[in-house]
Amino acid sequence: MAKPDIPKSEAEFKEIVFAVAKTLVTLIEEKDPYLRKHSERVASNSANFCEQYEIVATEDVETVYLAGLLHDIGIVAIPIDLLHRAEPLTEEEMVRIRKHPVSGEKVLSSLFFLEDVLPLVRHHHEAFDGSGYPDRLKGDDIPVGARVLGMFNSLDTLMFPRHAAKALSVEDALVEINAKAGKQFDQGLIQNFMAFVKSNAGTSEDYLQKKQANTMRSIFTEILSQFKSGKINPPVMPQVVREMQTVIKQPKSTPEQLAEVIEKDPTISLRLISVANSPVYRGITEIRNVKSAIPRLGLKETLNIVLAIANKNLYESKNVKFKILMDKLWVHALACAYASKLIAQSLKLEDQEKYFLMGLIHDIGKILLLKAFSEVKRGGTLKMDAIEANVQEAHIGLGSMLLKRWGFDAEFINVINHHEDKEFSPDTVKEILVVHLANILTRQIGLSLFEVDVDFAEVESAKILKLEPVQIVTFVEEVKSIIADVAHLF
Ligand SMILES: [Fe+2]
Ligand SMILES: [Fe+2]
Ligand SMILES: [Fe+2]
Repeated sequence: MAKPDIPKSEAEFKEIVFAVAKTLVTLIEEKDPYLRKHSERVASNSANFCEQYEIVATEDVETVYLAGLLHDIGIVAIPIDLLHRAEPLTEEEMVRIRKHPVSGEKVLSSLFFLEDVLPLVRHHHEAFDGSGYPDRLKGDDIPVGARVLGMFNSLDTLMFPRHAAKALSVEDALVEINAKAGKQFDQGLIQNFMAFVKSNAGTSEDYLQKKQANTMRSIFTEILSQFKSGKINPPVMPQVVREMQTVIKQPKSTPEQLAEVIEKDPTISLRLISVANSPVYRGITEIRNVKSAIPRLGLKETLNIVLAIANKNLYESKNVKFKILMDKLWVHALACAYASKLIAQSLKLEDQEKYFLMGLIHDIGKILLLKAFSEVKRGGTLKMDAIEANVQEAHIGLGSMLLKRWGFDAEFINVINHHEDKEFSPDTVKEILVVHLANILTRQIGLSLFEVDVDFAEVESAKILKLEPVQIVTFVEEVKSIIADVAHLF
């Protein structure tokens, strides 16, 4: 069996702590779904409150959050009918329920990384005047995190009781809590508490989500500014591609000249030969060398395929989480390339090979971002779907920046800048319309990050290009089979 990775960074270690906490919360939910929601509200409210009013040190806010999530975990030891009973409990039953902070502390005590959480769990039912339980602690002897949890715990049981009919409005709940200031609750915290609760009506945003969104934003800002200032060097265009472009630009370039350049790179040569032999391009005889592959493919298509092969290297990642997404994006890019070419062919546009390349690189900004992201230490705890959403937002700016550095002309940069536009006019250049349609088309095949059914009659670019849905559906089928044939060869 493969050994799990040993956490290498603090971020990774925290990820494990939160995973354990989540498992425990799931356990709570199995026992009592009500308790899970209660715990999450108490956790977020308490942590957001502590952060906003700097009640605890910044690095301790997470402890308050975890303690909030787990404060009632000792309740798993109590029979569920006791928790749901509407009529008053006997003294004996009360004693049993009052044991939950101590049982909770016991349950969690074997997890060394929750050490700081334990006192908050144990003391969340202490009262400021010493009348609480289990230790009858008084005033500042009660850890401040536990005092905060106690307030939000009470607020939550008043506003969201087990029996919804008894629920109080936020105003009434605050009156009740305010009346106990100095007795059950810390007089020194009450004013800020009231202001906080009034500002969000008792339900502040999910602390963990907020934290992740903030981390995400700051990582993105950092990556973008590092690109701009040249601290992160974008990948360079492979040498072989540069040389090929020079050869092709010469008016009388021959397949032999091109072959000479390509053969300098054995990996690219081998792959080019296997693509030339694939069903998409196959002729009668088997191709065995680069020289004979070029006439079959044509000079420009050869360049395209070499570019695609060279491009594939950009889509590599050692990080498994990112690798899955990168692989998806690679197939998406290739599908979009072939779709663009097919559309250009059917419209009999000039310079059809260029459309292939435009399709291939339209999302290059995403790859650049993901690569940078996978190398950021703080990235470990972030959720993949949140990363995807942010990548979607930022990929255009970064993509056009890269293409400029690679020396692509304005036509290409224009496609990058506008391939996600929502509206087009009859004046929109064909290149943008074609790549836009090709991009949407890949969604229909499931070769996109977006899984949706597309109504081609409603696609703006298709309308302007005067392509009928029936025709587009034939492209869909063709791209599907091309990708099945060639995707693994690159
Ligand atoms: Fe409790
Ligand atoms: Fe895009
Ligand atoms: Fe795309």
